[in-house]
Amino acid sequence: MSIYVYPGSFDPVTNGHMDIIQRAAKLCDKLVVAVLVNSSKNPIFTLDERVDLLKCAVKGIDNVEIESFSGLLIDYMKKKNSKVIIKGLRAVSDFEYELQMALLNKNLDSDIETLFMMTNIHYSFLSSSSVRELARNKGKIDGLVPDCIKDRIIDKFGK
Ligand code: PNS
Repeated sequence: MSIYVYPGSFDPVTNGHMDIIQRAAKLCDKLVVAVLVNSSKNPIFTLDERVDLLKCAVKGIDNVEIESFSGLLIDYMKKKNSKVIIKGLRAVSDFEYELQMALLNKNLDSDIETLFMMTNIHYSFLSSSSVRELARNKGKIDGLVPDCIKDRIIDKFGK
């Protein structure tokens, strides 16, 4: 059984992430979306909130599971018995950091492959930080995040 892992902060999940989740889920038997517990980015949404938002967003996609992890991704991969990390690439600017991470992980465990998927062109401008910025300043986030989580994101920043 092929198990792929899509790791990230998901602070919060966006339609760009959802595009990757939907496409990656078609490539494997099970896709585990793994939310990093202690992101150095100091997440705005708590771990429970980030997991709950993702769970709501992936309802209806049968082979996707939402989990959280702490520590090294490579150790979590072993725990999940997975050999493939899924990453989304939006622009050339993502490449340098992602290359470094992929090579670091390869150095830690040569059996693990990082599979890069190009983000849908419609979402290439989109990031969790821009969604947070918009919501904080009462900008519209329609179409940028799954409909079922939109109000919870707006509520987080106060109506
Ligand atoms: O959504 P993000 O914040 O870009 O995701 C980054 C993430 C979670 C994929 C990355 O920070 C990560 O894998 N963290 C776990 C720690 C680790 O294994 N680091 C790589 C070796 S130093």
